Amino acid sequence: MKNELFIPDSDPTIAGYPLSWWKKHHELPLHIFYEPIIRQNLRAFKCIFERLYPKGQVCFAAKACTHKPVLKIAHQEDCGADVASYNEARCALEAGIPASKLDLNGNCKEDFLLRKAIDLGMNVIADCIEEIEQIEIIAREQKKRVRVLLRISGYDLGQVTDDSVFTAGLWTKFGTPLGVVPDFINTLDRFTHVQVVGFHTHIGSQITKVEPYLSVIAQLITLGHLLNQAGGRCEVINIGGGFPVRYVDKSTWHDTTTRIGEGYAAFRRGDLSKSFVWHDGPAGFGSDDDFHVHLDHWSGERFYSEHPKEKMLEALLLGEITLDGKKIMTVEALRQLGEPTLTIEPGRSIMEDSGVTLARVGIVKTVAHHHNLVCLEMGITSHGESLIEKPVKRWEIANENTTRAAKPFEAFIGGNLCFSGDMISKYKVLLQRPPKRGDIILIHHTGAYTSSLFASASNSYPRPARILATGEGGIELLKKRDSYHDIVE
Ligand SMILES: Cc1ncc(COP(=O)(O)O)c(C=O)c1O
Repeated sequence: MKNELFIPDSDPTIAGYPLSWWKKHHELPLHIFYEPIIRQNLRAFKCIFERLYPKGQVCFAAKACTHKPVLKIAHQEDCGADVASYNEARCALEAGIPASKLDLNGNCKEDFLLRKAIDLGMNVIADCIEEIEQIEIIAREQKKRVRVLLRISGYDLGQVTDDSVFTAGLWTKFGTPLGVVPDFINTLDRFTHVQVVGFHTHIGSQITKVEPYLSVIAQLITLGHLLNQAGGRCEVINIGGGFPVRYVDKSTWHDTTTRIGEGYAAFRRGDLSKSFVWHDGPAGFGSDDDFHVHLDHWSGERFYSEHPKEKMLEALLLGEITLDGKKIMTVEALRQLGEPTLTIEPGRSIMEDSGVTLARVGIVKTVAHHHNLVCLEMGITSHGESLIEKPVKRWEIANENTTRAAKPFEAFIGGNLCFSGDMISKYKVLLQRPPKRGDIILIHHTGAYTSSLFASASNSYPRPARILATGEGGIELLKKRDSYHDIVE
């Protein structure tokens, strides 16, 4: 199976087809996904479990790319799914994943969704104690007993990543504050239709370091012991998703953060010629803790990790946690808890590097103190990630791909929508030569969330098509491009 998504050339190959073929058969912008990489990613996680902790369960986070052919791949690879809405659940079920392998997440599930989940026998991840009370009422009405995990948050993990992708701290709408859980465990007898079988945490997305995971695993295992001591049985520990993607290599990440810091320092001296961040913010050097800028410490989201994807799982299983003041290997601690199922819910790490986006260059100009700006014939709504994060990614000009100028062409990237927040890259991207109108830009790592997160037909531009290339010559339309009628009627 050929796993290379992009093979550079004057007419490069993308997911098994030349760029000229994609241009001839599809309108741009276009989101392309490549099945062999999705499979490879799922298998890699499963392999780690098989080797180090066979009681592991991979539940693909459907929200990362909710299309039936994608969920079918997860099913064929013997994975379950994390679903967070009725339609995600329906899509997973229609793809063949049995209800018993679906984990229902969400901080505000509707009654009809809970009813459906209980009826079909999904695993419900209760967001909070209040939700458990509601689940008890519904399960009693349905005369069913339901297996529930309680989602925990409120951890003191320090500055893990940018707030926009952190879901386990104090200020989060998700989960139950850790501190209240021990007392709650002692009241579980009052539930006759809810069986709490374990605990869940999703720290956030793109968690690049092992420490927050290890800390959370220790807390979840501690709660597991409390549950066992209270007469229950901890059968599942679910550590959510967040497994990071290595968007750029180490030296590019270092160069990028250095340029951001230097640009900001120059801006503070009144020199705007070095700006690397649109509008001259400190980006990840700004600290949420003391509201100051620390140019020696990046506290924002990181786009490089020493432990990308399944390597993070490996590092966690081989790592050590602290329980009752003593260090113990994660795997050993799980065994001592009675070998619960260890569930993970990876989304980004399964999909992100399986996808690329193609968009045509419309305008190349200079703005604000002679910085280059490339405007694409695509809006930020087709690259929704940039609305909540400032991703650092690999970009290139896809056509005449091997032509290289002596120096990279540095530019901010804007979209074509009529609002000034429509900046697709607020960090400068480095292109291999100066682009011109009609060139095709390829953005790497757009397989998860990016194409759907805020997809809309803003300004009545159509939402682009999403295509899955199977790697065996097959092409599947995941979502068709909007027509005029889809947009205005
Ligand atoms: C509960 C839960 N699990 C898993 C995920 C997947 O996270 P990621 O795509 O970072 O792996 C998410 C993402 O928001 C989530 O909310």
